Amino acid sequence: MEALIKQAAKDLAACKEAVALTGAGISVESNIPPFRGKGGIWEKFDPMEYAHIDAFMNDPAKVWNTLLKDMKEVMDRAEPNPGHLGLARLEALGKLKTVITQNVDGLHQLAGNTDVIEFHGNFAWHYCLLCKTRLKTGDVDISRIPPRCACGGIFRPEVVFFGEMIPTQALWRSRQAASKCDLMLVVGTSAVVQPAALMPVIAKQAGAKVIEINPEITPLTGSISDYLIQGNAGETLSAILAELDALL
Ligand code: APR
Repeated sequence: MEALIKQAAKDLAACKEAVALTGAGISVESNIPPFRGKGGIWEKFDPMEYAHIDAFMNDPAKVWNTLLKDMKEVMDRAEPNPGHLGLARLEALGKLKTVITQNVDGLHQLAGNTDVIEFHGNFAWHYCLLCKTRLKTGDVDISRIPPRCACGGIFRPEVVFFGEMIPTQALWRSRQAASKCDLMLVVGTSAVVQPAALMPVIAKQAGAKVIEINPEITPLTGSISDYLIQGNAGETLSAILAELDALL
């Protein structure tokens, strides 16, 4: 692991424009559970029954009670961790341009990254299905479920449910960023959900170096990724930044 940390610092020192693709794993150290693997949400709930747009439209109270309420409570309390702060520092050093995130927790922006593409939307904002009034998540009153707007409509989060399209702008900008970068950091994603998991492939095809940070191997490991640093995002990115500081 030591040698790969040093290698990643060297690769980052030499790169012109890095892009990061992040998944739920980078927020695990902010006490937000992942979806798959140890403690994953989808181990308890079937995503097709609770996180599909049809499930929400058929029974918004059920989805709010089982999935959204917990997510809201966890995200309202979450703070950026050293993994998020490491990526923010890479932007401050002029190395990292864009973070493409599958996460909806807004922690990259809170950590200080200024160009964050939210591939699956975000939980920071909700809107009324009827009159489209938008509210920040902290202003949505969940004492009654499902939460309702003054007009009587039901609020939903601005996340992308299964069965919904990835926002066109997010998809287009992500492809752009992935095809232009010369290094992609893939941090904390199981790389099984498309089209997000296509971004490292696009980067690789464009000649970028692809570095994975994850305690587990993924479908990218050994084929798309140049190497995998098997560790947690927080301590790994902190160690890479410490090495990079010595090189810059
Ligand atoms: N540091 C880095 N990676 C970690 C850590 C950690 N501390 N803890 C777990 N991981 C890794 C796991 O090994 C796993 O590969 O993070 C990954 C989490 O995978 P998922 O839970 O599948 O999260 P993600 O890849 O973001 O899921 C993609 O699926 O359900 C949809 O919309 C949801 O955006 C999500 C998408």
